[in-house]
Amino acid sequence: MEYINSMLEVIGNTPLLKLNKVAKDVEANVFVKLEHLNPSGSYKDRMARSMVEAAEKGLTWNGKRLKPGGIVCDASAGNTAPALAFVCAVKGYKARFCSYKTMLVGDSARLKITDSFGPEVYMCPLPSQEILEEHCEDEKERRYSYILAGKKHMYEMERDNPDVVWVDQIYNIHNAEGQRTMGKEIVRQLDGKVDAWGCSIGSGGCILGVTMEFLDQGLKPWIFGVTPQHSPIAGGDISTDIAEGRTGKPPIMEKFVNLMDLKKWQTEESLVEKLHGMGYPNEYFQVSTEDAREIANRLCREEGIYCGMSSGANVYAALKVAERMKEGQNVVTAIVDRRDRYLGEYPNDIYVV
Ligand SMILES: Cc1ncc(COP(=O)(O)O)c(C=O)c1O
Repeated sequence: MEYINSMLEVIGNTPLLKLNKVAKDVEANVFVKLEHLNPSGSYKDRMARSMVEAAEKGLTWNGKRLKPGGIVCDASAGNTAPALAFVCAVKGYKARFCSYKTMLVGDSARLKITDSFGPEVYMCPLPSQEILEEHCEDEKERRYSYILAGKKHMYEMERDNPDVVWVDQIYNIHNAEGQRTMGKEIVRQLDGKVDAWGCSIGSGGCILGVTMEFLDQGLKPWIFGVTPQHSPIAGGDISTDIAEGRTGKPPIMEKFVNLMDLKKWQTEESLVEKLHGMGYPNEYFQVSTEDAREIANRLCREEGIYCGMSSGANVYAALKVAERMKEGQNVVTAIVDRRDRYLGEYPNDIYVV
């Protein structure tokens, strides 16, 4: 007999595909890790399991332990909520997510996917009128204040409820630790020959975790970060700060963290700050929606990879790096998620992280 006992066993161990058609014009090899094949549909399954299992051991920012029947929460408009909802369903925890009104356009498939796993899902509370009217100088700041209001809500819920653990993906090292497993697999799959690696940056968990594993195994590939050029959501705006090479907290983050007195974020270091502190990435690519979409369409039509726009952006950047490399060198990136989770919400296939 050959069977598994839990859907958690299906996380990771994804195939590594060599792009033969999309990468036909470059001499170097371009490989993609097929992370859309994870059970909830994205690479976030790796970090969701890792963050929940760390919380079970009390490896949280404040030492709080996730008890049987406890509640896991986070604010997310992306792939983290479906992944955490999936892991919590299998492990028997309750889960509570709030999403940002400003980031959802129309009918969100990602919220529906999240909802299918049975957690509580609702909209984040709004920032105060005072913040919106007196402190937001433009649309970018207004959108960011909505995100921070969601994070502050999570912070308070964890503080006030002994059963709740806020996993806080933006600051949780176990997010990156979970993605380390992808790095381990890549090293094994390429017999340790990795010349360049990079991916889109949201929380920074994926690029940081895989990079940490490469460095720990003595590899020193060229590391490239990928961010959206004109993202309609705040993540993209922050990534502009990142792409311009500012270290520390992006100014907009600093401003609203202080205004809303989000103590945890004032005192801790985010994963992106950690990555910058290590001197990585070596290079940033700001990719437009048009370029991401063109490559995502080619990945689907020529290679059969049904992926979202951030995967298209990842491969766009990987191809640019591969153009500068020689025959026999290996450039690796990730196929993040499946495209169907954007149906309804982003009919125009916008590159978001
Ligand atoms: C579609 C998509 N691409 C890329 C990313 C970036 O991943 P990470 O949060 O590990 O930086 C995310 C998550 O933020 C995402 O949802």
